[in-house]
Amino acid sequence: MLSKNYLNKLDIKKILLENLNSITGPQAEQESQIMISYSSSKSENNLDINNSEVDQKLINKILNERVKGKPLAKIINEKGFWKKIFYTDDYTLDPRADSEILVEQFLIDFKKNKNQKHLKLLDLCCGTGCLGISIIDELDNGFCDFIDVSKQALIACKKNIIKFKQQQKTTVFQSNLFENYPINRLKYIDFIVCNPPYIPTRNYLNLNQETQHDPRISLDGGKLGMDYYVKIINFLISVKFKGIVYFEIDPIITKNMYKLLLEKSVKIVYKKTDYLNLDRLIKLKFPG
Ligand SMILES: C[S@@+](CC[C@H](N)C(=O)[O-])C[C@H]1O[C@@H](n2cnc3c(N)ncnc32)[C@H](O)[C@@H]1O
Repeated sequence: MLSKNYLNKLDIKKILLENLNSITGPQAEQESQIMISYSSSKSENNLDINNSEVDQKLINKILNERVKGKPLAKIINEKGFWKKIFYTDDYTLDPRADSEILVEQFLIDFKKNKNQKHLKLLDLCCGTGCLGISIIDELDNGFCDFIDVSKQALIACKKNIIKFKQQQKTTVFQSNLFENYPINRLKYIDFIVCNPPYIPTRNYLNLNQETQHDPRISLDGGKLGMDYYVKIINFLISVKFKGIVYFEIDPIITKNMYKLLLEKSVKIVYKKTDYLNLDRLIKLKFPG
């Protein structure tokens, strides 16, 4: 831990790295930067750590919790995703770098289509809202509905909507999938982005201690991890949804996903892997 004497940033960083190396390995460098930045009185949320004083008491408090195994994002209630720092808490899944591929591909596809002037998006299972907010924030005419079953997660999502000044372009619905979502709105939705819970229950129960800080409702996808995909796809077919769906996926469910899509005759536009070359994204076209 840090001593009570005044320490300069280099000393603080050295101590942080010594403490973090054993628990976070390659993440130690990045986490120590975030801790210093966060604890610097003048550089709130800012990665320019050079010109501000570090609150040593605060950084000690953070480090104390971190060495006990609590994820950094859950201690400081923020996590960088795509181009922004999102509010996150005990009721939300901390945004993952893996999910950035969905935002990246969506924007590439959307910007390629010169006929598409307006975007009407639905972020289903939105959590912090990191997917929908990141997308509409980059487009002039993007509107997004957000759905989550968790009231607390939606409070976090609304905080992010306000933080990034997207109130005019967004509407939030508390709903068990589509149960309380006004179905006539779906007619105007061109695209759905969705990162549902997809970890098979058996795997969920064996997750490492850090991941278990995220709420179970954001991770457990039922016996095979397929429960949410099955429900969502069946529903979209039943209402003759005519549009595109971008699902986050995981290698663990790819085979069953293909089987389901074949059975239901849903067209796969493409599948993409993430930076670690793992299946992470599937784009589907619903014929209506
Ligand atoms: C894997 S997290 C994804 C959060 C966020 N979209 C992201 O990519 O970081 C799944 C989210 O689905 C929500 N969820 C779980 N069951 C749901 C349901 N039946 N209807 C709507 N949302 C649900 C959880 O509360 C959680 O926020």
